[in-house]
This record gives sequence, C-alpha cells and structure tokens, in this order.
Amino acid sequence: MNSGPSPTQGTALAVILAAGKGTRMNSELPKVLCPVVDRPMIHFVLDAANQAGIGKKVVVIGYEKQAVRDELETRGESDIVFAEQNEQLGTGHAVQMCREHLEGRQGLTLVIAGDSPLVQPESLKALIAHFEETRPALLLGTLTKDDPTGLGRILRDESGQFTGIIEHKDASEEQRQIQEVNMSTYLFSTPDLLWALSNLSNDNAQGEYYLTDCARLLHEAGRAVEALPVLKDCESLSINNPEELQLVDQKMRAMGYA
Ligand code: UD1
Ligand code: MG
Repeated sequence: MNSGPSPTQGTALAVILAAGKGTRMNSELPKVLCPVVDRPMIHFVLDAANQAGIGKKVVVIGYEKQAVRDELETRGESDIVFAEQNEQLGTGHAVQMCREHLEGRQGLTLVIAGDSPLVQPESLKALIAHFEETRPALLLGTLTKDDPTGLGRILRDESGQFTGIIEHKDASEEQRQIQEVNMSTYLFSTPDLLWALSNLSNDNAQGEYYLTDCARLLHEAGRAVEALPVLKDCESLSINNPEELQLVDQKMRAMGYA
C-alpha cells in the first residue's frame, strides 16, 4: 500500500459539530466539554482529524460558544476556525452555518460529531483512501450494532445499494429492525455538500434540519452515495447521556487513551 501523503492531505477540510447543548447530559457544561479520560471530549475528535491528515478544521459552536472556543484555543493550532450556530436547528443546519468556509472548495469535506471521541483515525484514513479511489458525492462510514436504539438507520434496496438514512424517531417498526447505523462520519465532495445543504427541509419528527437527509437527497438526484461498513465496534459509542459518558470513559481507558 502507498504510505506517502494522500492527495487529500492539505486540501481537505473537517467540519466538527459542537454547537448542541446536550440536553440529555443533564450537565451545566456543553456536551462537547464534558470530560472523558480527564479531557474535554472534543479534543479527541480534533486529534483524530489531525491524525487522519486533515489539518484545517471548522468547528461549529453555539451553546456556550465562548467556553468551547476558549478550550480549543488552548490547543494552540492555527488552522481551527469557528462557525457560529446561534440556534440549534439540527445537524444539517449546523453545517449550513459553515457555508462561507465551504464555498469555492473542490475537495473533500469530512463531517464528524464532537460527541464521538472514539472516532478512529485508521477508519478515517481507510474512508479517505476509498473516497479518493471512487470519488463519490458522499461516502458514509457505518457499522452494525446489536442494539441500534436511538441511532439513524441505513436504508438499502434489494441489491444492497444505499438509499437513505432514517432517524430512529422517524423510523417505522420494520425500519427499527435494521442494525446498520449512521455514526455521523461523512465524507462529502464539497460542491455536492453545498447543493444538498441548500435543499434540506425540517419536515420530520424533530422539526430539525437533519444532515442525514443530505444522503437521501444526493442519492435521489442520481449522485453516487456509498455507505461502507468499515467502522470499528468502539466507534458505535457516542455520548448522549451520563451513562454513555461513563461507558466511553471506561472503554477509552481500557484502550489505553489515558
Ligand atoms: C445524530 C444523527 C444520527 C446518528 C447519531 C450518532 C442526525 C439528524 N442524526 O443523532 O443519524 O446515528 O448522530 O452519530 O444528524 N449539533 C449541532 N447543532 C445542532 C444539533 C447538533 O452542532 O443543531 C451537534 C451536537 O453538538 C453533537 C452532534 O451535532 O456533537 C450530534 O448531535 P446529536 O444531537 O447528538 O445527534 P444524535 O441525536 O446523536
Ligand atoms: Mg449524538
């Protein structure tokens, strides 16, 4: 395998979603600043992007935005910029707030969630390599989870071709049986992302602009959307409540993050 720098290095951009309050955490701190392994969880997400070779990062901030900004400024990295989402109208709306940083770019935009500190640089690297090979409009990293409750489910047709993502709250009983899930690991071709963002609506169970809908919109427009089940088991853990925080903390310590 070619171990030199990939064509993406230096040109790709990472968008990190970190504007939410994290209502289910019952904490004063914004969710992304809640510590795992004694460090605000968002640091691990930025570290993973760096280790995957993506230096330039746009962090979407909103709830307690100054606190998140101050924390990230302690990293002393010059290639972090911030986009403000002053009302949390959904993950798609969060990326819409990055428009000025996306316009005019041709390459890859990686979108990852600040509440997923177990995102693995190796998985990102594998996805980037696949993206460079097939150049789709969107490549999603997925995995299969025994208990997929609460997560977005991956929809495929009879031939296995990706057709969309349905959020747990919007899913039928039958769709809730699907175990392949979205873990918010998206590799977009930037012009396709901009097109999809301008076509989002909030007609769903939560009245939010879902980033997940970009996948269906691009697929329906005849653009190539691939969902690759390459994520590791540990990447099925994201943090939405105190129990998950504790679980991720334990897992990361056992994996040697401390
Ligand atoms: C999201 C996905 C779901 C996926 C799951 C785990 C959508 C609609 N759903 O759900 O398919 O299975 O993650 O990866 O995207 N955020 C903002 N602004 C907002 C809302 C959220 O910045 O307006 C940020 C949050 O701070 C958080 C991240 O986006 O870091 C994910 O938000 P969260 O509310 O946890 O989404 P999930 O319900 O977990
Ligand atoms: Mg979440």
